[in-house]
Amino acid sequence: MGLGLSAEERASLAGDLGPGARKAMEIVVALGRIYGARRLVPVDSVQVAGVSYRNLGEAGLEFLREWADQGARACVPATLNPAGMDLRAWRELGFSESFAHRQLAVIEAYRRLGVRTTCTCAPYLVGNVPRLGQHVAWAESSAVSYANSVLGARTNREGGPSALAAAITGRTAAYGLHLDENRRATLRVVVRCPVRTLSDFGALGHLVGKAARNRVPYFALQDLEETRSDAMLKALGAAMAASGAVALYHVAGITPEAGRPGILAPGYETLVVDDLRPALAALNSGVRKIDLVWFGCPHADLEEMAEVVRLLDGRRVKAALWITTAREVRERANAEGLVAAVEASGGRVVADMCAVVAPMQELGFRTLATPSAKGATYAPSHAGLQVRYGTVEQCLEAAVTGVWPG
Ligand code: F3S
Repeated sequence: MGLGLSAEERASLAGDLGPGARKAMEIVVALGRIYGARRLVPVDSVQVAGVSYRNLGEAGLEFLREWADQGARACVPATLNPAGMDLRAWRELGFSESFAHRQLAVIEAYRRLGVRTTCTCAPYLVGNVPRLGQHVAWAESSAVSYANSVLGARTNREGGPSALAAAITGRTAAYGLHLDENRRATLRVVVRCPVRTLSDFGALGHLVGKAARNRVPYFALQDLEETRSDAMLKALGAAMAASGAVALYHVAGITPEAGRPGILAPGYETLVVDDLRPALAALNSGVRKIDLVWFGCPHADLEEMAEVVRLLDGRRVKAALWITTAREVRERANAEGLVAAVEASGGRVVADMCAVVAPMQELGFRTLATPSAKGATYAPSHAGLQVRYGTVEQCLEAAVTGVWPG
């Protein structure tokens, strides 16, 4: 059976709504056909990725401009992934005029396309919070994991153009994680070691992601119930997304679909994790001197920032210290005195950007410490940085002394 389109969808495909809308519908329909979907579903929101000029280059910028020139506009709420720099403080942070100029042109193109230029990988912190069972089309692997698993919304891992096409058409093809049968757990994870800190959750996610191979993990984890926070679920999901492209997981007693009857698929397999050390070894280089300590991957909320301020306890930092977050969250943090507290120690609350997609070499950074397994996974290959991965406390120690502790 083929992809059944409504009269409205067929009209859009025929170009009745203009060339920009037609191009978007062509992309959505092509994906539907490739993946054997039977229909398109309306989406309630979209998260668009592909923002850093460093990744897009001139060809990517032209592609966006041309689509905007063709009259394409988002018809559902659409938010945007991080850029390659802080859109306001780029000069103070050391970004070049030429990069900034091109990066701002990308943001302008997205604005013309009707996308809210939120520049965050945590859109759920800035009002894009889909509800249980809603269909959405999100790009950005950590956000996809959060939307599916923690919020119980339904999205595949969209790419930049496919998410934008969904925003313009207001639709996505109903396949993969939009369908009940693909949301069942196929890998039961039994954890037999303590998982308490943020970096423990990242390490666990790294190991499970590596082992998952397209399966949906289900965690039966006693410890997690006592210590879980949103930050820890973010860390777990982001790590699995980075190491194994996991887009959905369930945690018994915590995530909204974990209690659904029959959530464990017949024939599920079991993975036992009894030691996090292999993940720590895989994510750590032996580097000692630390140039930059990075928190906020995925983008930090106020609680995570307050925790850093509390643990920093007024100490001055020797290495650069960045907490990345959304502009709107930075404004809230500013109102609560958190930005001033971080700056008083010599750190920065940096908005709009992600260190992995920024031209970090141009800023003179060679080494990085982070409690984010996703950041530690991508920083070597994407940003050319040598990485130390550890607890928030270890990272702050490195910030204060400029050297990895121990
Ligand atoms: Fe976000 Fe970048 Fe980390 S997009 S999840 S801050 S790698």
